[in-house]
Amino acid sequence: MSLPLRQSVAQCARRLLDLSTIPVSLGTRSYHIVIGSDILGGVGEALRELNLGPKQMIVTSRTVWPLYGKPVQNSLEASGFDVSVTLLNDDEETKTVQTLLTIFDKLLESEFDRNSGIVALGGGVVGDLAGFAAATFMRGIRFVQVPTTLLAQVDSSIGGKTGVNHPKAKNLIGAFHQPSLVWTDVCTLSTLPERELRSGLAEIIKYSIIADPTLLQLLSENVRSFSSISRDSLIAIISRCCSIKARIVGQDEDERGVRSTLNYGHTIGHALESLTGYAHYTHGEAIAIGMMAAARISLEIDATDHEMVQTQENTIRSAGLPTIVPRSLNSVEIVGQLNKDKKRLGERVRWVLPRKVGEVFLTENVPSDVVLKVLHNMTDS
Ligand SMILES: NC(=O)c1ccc[n+]([C@@H]2O[C@H](COP(=O)([O-])OP(=O)(O)OC[C@H]3O[C@@H](n4cnc5c(N)ncnc54)[C@H](O)[C@@H]3O)[C@@H](O)[C@H]2O)c1
Repeated sequence: MSLPLRQSVAQCARRLLDLSTIPVSLGTRSYHIVIGSDILGGVGEALRELNLGPKQMIVTSRTVWPLYGKPVQNSLEASGFDVSVTLLNDDEETKTVQTLLTIFDKLLESEFDRNSGIVALGGGVVGDLAGFAAATFMRGIRFVQVPTTLLAQVDSSIGGKTGVNHPKAKNLIGAFHQPSLVWTDVCTLSTLPERELRSGLAEIIKYSIIADPTLLQLLSENVRSFSSISRDSLIAIISRCCSIKARIVGQDEDERGVRSTLNYGHTIGHALESLTGYAHYTHGEAIAIGMMAAARISLEIDATDHEMVQTQENTIRSAGLPTIVPRSLNSVEIVGQLNKDKKRLGERVRWVLPRKVGEVFLTENVPSDVVLKVLHNMTDS
């Protein structure tokens, strides 16, 4: 049975038998990503099967809690867990050390110990914060990701990158700490604002360009009317992305090599987010422009062809995502920001560039004048 995405959660068919399960193989830190439709009510049983400790704290946002908090809380309680709840604000400004201290206070108030755990229910902001709290509280406790944005379902809930922002840079303070489980219910996307849905589409386009031409085909068939995509197609697309990320993380957990390819579009994307104070673009919008810049740089240095650039641009446009740099930002400023970020981290600017759909390469040898020329040509006239 194929159900459209935009449907009330209550109308979702119960399909626990149709779960897609993807292993993330990391030795003793291995875990599963479980993807299905209307499966929030099964999360308690899944935690019990993993033998997680009796005290669990749901860390979630003020937006997500009224939508999906109760089914998760009820499911955990029905499986015998003692549940507390911490509510956070929902914006990027919440991803701070200060919020982390609030979570620690709550964990202490509720007398959590090393055997207790955290359930992160929400988008990437909640997942990164709750994950970092789990990585650091009492030198590390277990946690489970229950992602509710498309971006979190295909990307941020997987792979163990957790952290908070510093006033000087995004995600500057963090740790690798793998979840014990990722429990993904696609029904939660039915309430996600259209713009956030599109933001997640950018990450799906990213996966197809770095690793999977068939995914690009699957996405192209659905991208224009993504909000009415069938649940089966949605699960198929999300599962494909998760498999790619699981494979790459399994090969290079702490990003010394191949995991860097997941940063396709992020070099320019991060600079745009930073220059606009994280207020103008969603993460996906910024990396959509970043992917276009990377493809055009690759074309400029003869590493790819026009057809690749055009195919990517058509998909990004069909997804309703931006492909050009606004006039308010100038190319020199953007290149300056790239160099500033990298200098601060003691690194060189590392580019992920496409050769063709499904294949990218890493390079640190892109002359600044090539980047400037490409950005100049991409700027809104
Ligand atoms: N750890 C990683 O590997 C990784 C990877 C990519 C991005 N990130 C981080 O993820 C964050 C962005 O995550 P995001 O795009 O999920 O944004 P987000 O967490 O800010 O969520 C976007 C908005 O959607 C709302 N929302 C969430 N789920 C909802 C639902 N089901 N229905 C209605 N509203 C809902 C939230 O309240 C919020 O207002 C950034 O901080 C970024 O740095 C982390």
